Amino acid sequence: MRKKVFSGMRPTGKLHLGHLVGALYKWVELQETHDCIFGIVDWHALMGEYEQSKGITDNIHEMAIDWMASGIDPEKSIIFVQSEVPEHLELDIIFSCITPLGWLERNPTYKEQLREIQTRDLQTYGFLGYPVLQAADILIYKANAVPVGEDQIPHVELTREISRRFNHLYKTEFFEDCGVILTRTPRLLGVDGRKMSKSYNNAINLSDSSSEILSKVKGMFTDPKRIKRTDVGHPNECNVYSYYEVFAPDQAPTVCQECTMAQRGCTDCKKNLADVLIKYLAPLQEKRLKLENNKDLVKDILNDGAKKARAIARETIQQVKALIF
Ligand code: TRP
Ligand code: SF4
Repeated sequence: MRKKVFSGMRPTGKLHLGHLVGALYKWVELQETHDCIFGIVDWHALMGEYEQSKGITDNIHEMAIDWMASGIDPEKSIIFVQSEVPEHLELDIIFSCITPLGWLERNPTYKEQLREIQTRDLQTYGFLGYPVLQAADILIYKANAVPVGEDQIPHVELTREISRRFNHLYKTEFFEDCGVILTRTPRLLGVDGRKMSKSYNNAINLSDSSSEILSKVKGMFTDPKRIKRTDVGHPNECNVYSYYEVFAPDQAPTVCQECTMAQRGCTDCKKNLADVLIKYLAPLQEKRLKLENNKDLVKDILNDGAKKARAIARETIQQVKALIF
């Protein structure tokens, strides 16, 4: 039996290189060996962005395009929009009844976000329950493998706790334990050297034009110890170099050698990196353009995905209700 995978992303903005090498490549790989369902989780986006909710619809569409341009294949995987499968919310309310408040209040990701995010008021009932809905996303499909980054491990653990509590309360073995498939993020920082994130505005997006890529790369910090062109560089302390390692591993040794011998200037090095990234993204952007020009196709694919997802979700909800009542 193939393992069942569920993962999701919040449609809160453009996808960037970090999403591509961190998550999407793994998802594309998993399609070959697992039954995969990928959700564009718009309710989760609303939990954080309820004050700017109008952008979510556009982001959903762009996300679907980015996914498919990256190789997520609707013939192999189900891709759909969370709010089009209302059964997620039914399971969410059931799980809400059985999840102790303490589990949610103690959640490290929750505490960190309350601390770090100052621009939005996240002291809401919905945001506290974020991981409960996430558990519903996963378990409504009885998924047992969840590809996510490190920051999401506590949420998958909570999913497991909730499913065990459900089994215990209703004397069943209905839900299997689900496990994490860790999507290793290579050390790919944003152009300013901080974590790549749309909220820092430091990301290279999958949809960026050549000139956007060039200007972002030109603005990247390099080895802080290298002040003059004649100073030798330290590639391992240079963010530009780490991009070579990920996107042009064949060029990296030369870059490293020339840099450490001061035979290569940072301006040229960055110009060349911009070229590398533009070429790297070209095939993806070609697919992207085709999908952008075919909005109906994208809609049809999402509708079809929702239909398939719903068929599974409806069955689960019926079984769950029969266990409870
Ligand atoms: N919380 C996840 C994130 O921010 C998104 C998400 C929602 C998710 N539901 C999910 C991920 C279910 C995996 C499984 O990245
Ligand atoms: Fe970084 Fe390239 Fe400059 Fe070396 S030459 S410090 S690798 S940008």
